[in-house]
Amino acid sequence: MNVRRPRGTNDILPEESRKWQFVEEKIRDICRRFGYQEIRTPIFEHTELFERGIGETTDIVEKEMYTFIDRGDRSITLRPEGTACVVRAFIENKLYAQSLPSKLYYLGPMFRYEKPQAGRYRQFSQFGVEAIGSLDPFLDVEMIILPIELYKACGLSEFHVHINSLGCPKCRGAYRDVLQQQLGTKLDQFCEACQGRISRNPLRVLDCKNSKCQSLVDEIPPITEYLCEECSDHFQQVIQYLDMLGIDYELNPKLVRGFDYYTKTVFEITVPGLGAQNAIGGGGRYDGLVEEIGGKAMPAVGYAVGIDRLLLALEQQNISVFPEQNADVYAAHFGGATKTAAVELVMKLREAGLWVEIDYMDRSLKAQMKSADRFNAAWVVIVGESELEAGKVRVRRMDTGAEEDVELDRLVEYLAAEREG
Ligand code: HAM
Repeated sequence: MNVRRPRGTNDILPEESRKWQFVEEKIRDICRRFGYQEIRTPIFEHTELFERGIGETTDIVEKEMYTFIDRGDRSITLRPEGTACVVRAFIENKLYAQSLPSKLYYLGPMFRYEKPQAGRYRQFSQFGVEAIGSLDPFLDVEMIILPIELYKACGLSEFHVHINSLGCPKCRGAYRDVLQQQLGTKLDQFCEACQGRISRNPLRVLDCKNSKCQSLVDEIPPITEYLCEECSDHFQQVIQYLDMLGIDYELNPKLVRGFDYYTKTVFEITVPGLGAQNAIGGGGRYDGLVEEIGGKAMPAVGYAVGIDRLLLALEQQNISVFPEQNADVYAAHFGGATKTAAVELVMKLREAGLWVEIDYMDRSLKAQMKSADRFNAAWVVIVGESELEAGKVRVRRMDTGAEEDVELDRLVEYLAAEREG
């Protein structure tokens, strides 16, 4: 019997999930400020969407998709990324008829059949932003600033922005020819994978991790030297905005990214110390994707943050900005009538907005006090028989140990005042 979690997946336990919630809160706040609205698309789509959208010769489509035939004989794929899904939803729901650009964000699990290691999973979570319908270079820059705001809000101070331009089909075609010609003369010196890539998708050779391939590629002129006037102007404007806004970046002519939909600007943000999986996000412009998937020709740009990796980076850099989670009140009782009164009290205090815990295990008072400590409760309200007869409860401040009898009717008011206090 195999009932363990599948390889490359994670259980996010409560101690961890509060960190996720913290990051998600920051995401929603930043998206609100930047004017991005949430879109939720299905977790699975028709396989063809990704084959057309991402590109049939990419690693993701060739080797990494979770694809299956459903009971209706359709080929279905668990989404390996969000961009193609959002563009599909944009077209299908005619969002183009509303004001443009459509500024959308999403948050959720993605699936890739990759070799699992630290920071690389088969189910992982992304926060992505997509702006569809505008060619404004400031939007490319917004796609870099927005995640930077998130990284900073999470306490990350050390990261690097890498940026490149891949041009448009027109100028990229010319560069492909150059690559095929120049790399082809040394074909036998490349790794086996690159030998195949040179004829099918030569740009992919640029970011091969094999050191021999890297040094061979170093001799090739960068793609930015082959950009057409429009792509070159666009890239210059992106750079000018980055300079104007004081954002540090590194021009990286080898940055090609793993999707065929990219045009013009591409970018990635890395953090030191995460080893090979050091990209905590990446994105770029994809001016041909809307048309490729069946919509009207329309420019677009986006970015996705890997949340698992972001949290890993925070852990490795010993950054903890996550707020403590402490209960407000622990209601201690002695069973019988005191429990009934405690239950009523608990519900009243919860209604008033407090986090209130109660003993569910028939523990002794001493054990209940210990339990209150574990919850870091600010107060313990002891519901004892004699106090109850007098219409009161005993309130103990856990930080000072000070105790006071408080009338039951006044308890909510009393705790609210103490809290302000
Ligand atoms: P991506 O670079 O494939 O881009 O993924 C974005 C981020 O997701 C990566 O930088 C990484 O942090 C995280 N990630 C990717 N694969 C894994 C994995 N196996 N395990 C853990 N984390 C992972 C995209 O997905 C594009 N859709 C981004 C985009 C949006 N481009 C335009 N718009």
